[in-house]
Amino acid sequence: MGLELKNPVIAGSSGLTGTLDSIKKLEENGAAAVVLKSIFEEEILLDVTQHVKEAKKNPMIYSGLSETLDYIDLHIREDNLEKFLQLIRDAKKAVSIPVIGSINCISNEDWTHFTRKMEEAGADALELNLFLNTADFKDKSFEKAYFRIIEKVLAVVKIPVAIKVSKYFTRMGLSLKALSETGVAGMVMFNRFYTPDIDIEKMALTSANMFSTREEQYETIRWIAIMSGRVNCDLAASTGIHTGDEVIKMLLAGASAVQVASTLYKNGPDQISRMLQGLNNWMTDKNFESLDQFRGTVAKAYGDDPAAFERMQFMKHFSEIR
Ligand SMILES: Cc1cc2nc3c(=O)[nH]c(=O)nc-3n(C[C@H](O)[C@H](O)[C@H](O)COP(=O)(O)O)c2cc1C
Repeated sequence: MGLELKNPVIAGSSGLTGTLDSIKKLEENGAAAVVLKSIFEEEILLDVTQHVKEAKKNPMIYSGLSETLDYIDLHIREDNLEKFLQLIRDAKKAVSIPVIGSINCISNEDWTHFTRKMEEAGADALELNLFLNTADFKDKSFEKAYFRIIEKVLAVVKIPVAIKVSKYFTRMGLSLKALSETGVAGMVMFNRFYTPDIDIEKMALTSANMFSTREEQYETIRWIAIMSGRVNCDLAASTGIHTGDEVIKMLLAGASAVQVASTLYKNGPDQISRMLQGLNNWMTDKNFESLDQFRGTVAKAYGDDPAAFERMQFMKHFSEIR
């Protein structure tokens, strides 16, 4: 993405990158960059609706004219956004690592204006968390919205833009390849959706684990290995990366960098220094001096036809089980 990183471990977007104090702690513990907590489109819109409702009760503010309402609407949006922009400005002053702004969006309506403001506030790059839920039965345009959103954002900002994608796509490989060819500078694989559980006593829906487990690394390894060498942008691995071993694996699979969130909640921000120590020790053991000496080497096992390779592995391993 054109960003100079001192090591490959980035603090991914989460509550831990939403305050200046914890951003500073992440830098102290070795984070190479931070992706700020996302601005949620709904959060802003909800706030606008609430404030407008309040304003409507006051005839001094709300005259009943639609222009007044438009003004209040716009004013409050700016105010809410200002808090996020201030965090970018403060972080840029307080830390020397790259600060990446993040937007969690579900429509391509009027939020590209936010990206320009984030660029003006000093963000080194942007990450678009394209949260188009596959459980949406209303939007029949399938993945087309991704392309429209990217096009709109790239038209208004000059800083590098990465997209954070989910692991649910029509024709995953082809879709990700096409997205990488839109002009984005990076792709983060993957974000994590809400997962439900069921409490059988109460017979009610509950929320499953908010944090990932190490078991979730395998799908990330798989797709980083498949896509590396087939995309037009950098790849950052995310989901299930908890220790130095997973950092090494993602680099071997072809990632330029990794993003971590759950492990920082579970083990504290100093987990980053432990992960880096693990990577360093392994590189010393293997006599590697730079990441480029081994990045992507294991992904080559996938060869020219990943589907055929996986079919072969499936037949080899599963047919032997009686
Ligand atoms: C408490 C919490 C808050 C999060 N908030 C955001 C967010 O605001 N924006 C975003 O793109 N991802 C968010 N994430 C997702 C993480 O950035 C990451 O993609 C996901 O947790 C998988 O990585 P992990 O296995 O290292 O946790 C959040 C995750 C957690 C646990």
